[in-house]
Amino acid sequence: MKPQRIAPGKIQLYGVFGFPLKHTLSPPMHQAGFDSLKLSRFYVPIELKETYFKKVMSKKKQLLLYGFNLTVPYKQTVMPYLDRISPEAKAIGAVNTVVKKNSQLWGYNTDAYGFMQSLSEGLKWKSKGKSVLVLGAGGASRACVYGLCEAGVKQITILNRTVSKARTLCRDFGMRFKKVEFVSGALKNNTSLKELISNNDLIVNTTSLGLKASDKTIVQNKFFPKAKKSQCVVDLIYSPSETPFLKIAKTKGWKTLNGLGMLLHQGSKSFEIWTGKKAPVRVMEKALTQAIKAK
Ligand code: ATR
Repeated sequence: MKPQRIAPGKIQLYGVFGFPLKHTLSPPMHQAGFDSLKLSRFYVPIELKETYFKKVMSKKKQLLLYGFNLTVPYKQTVMPYLDRISPEAKAIGAVNTVVKKNSQLWGYNTDAYGFMQSLSEGLKWKSKGKSVLVLGAGGASRACVYGLCEAGVKQITILNRTVSKARTLCRDFGMRFKKVEFVSGALKNNTSLKELISNNDLIVNTTSLGLKASDKTIVQNKFFPKAKKSQCVVDLIYSPSETPFLKIAKTKGWKTLNGLGMLLHQGSKSFEIWTGKKAPVRVMEKALTQAIKAK
């Protein structure tokens, strides 16, 4: 194998912190972006257990990285170590992108942008006046709900296995987005769920159910109604590319979308924060698709 040619100039290192990190697709996606713009930047996975992650963050002035991403479980853990946090990341309660400015660390959240961009690209979705049902109330849910509220939805219903988390999410965002009507409840397969699904324009699964082949579907077939005009379903999971949940929705006539677009667009926004340049989105998308195929 030929060694990679390094362009003249300073070499900058970027990376992603997480644990475990075996399945991260961010390195091939960002490396393809850097290479395509002929930037001498390199992106590496950094798998650290929590004690080491905290040690590294507490010595942030000596950190060699110019910027980095955070994934599970460090999107919240990183926050106390940052010098500045964007209002969006503060409201969502999680940081997925950090840039080093002078010797300070500034945190951002690009997940909400990624989600909204994927909706508009993949579904031609327009939020104004719409009603959305969100399944799950964890970190991913908070980013999606924030994006939808900013974009002007009329109503958001959040259902979660642990109902108290759905209530907290509604209360937090309800104080910030006064024009949006929030409803929370328990996620249970029954006829009221079927009715609720039928009455919403968009259903978003933000839970991890569907990642493993042995997982039950988040909504059982018998409780998933036939689509009325232009109703959409999104599952944030991208591997498998079509979860059982999306399969059911498709057979009932719903427009469907997986989480690959969100992954791509949150990445493209991080790329732009780090480089100040427009991200080569299609190049990054191709690298993502190839990396998924190779897995
Ligand atoms: P993420 O950052 O990916 O959102 P998270 O914050 O751990 O991860 O949230 C995971 C979400 O998936 C939660 O809403 C969780 O429900 P609980 O709050 O009740 O734990 C949901 N989830 C995970 N496994 C689930 C399951 N088997 N059935 C239903 N919901 C599940």
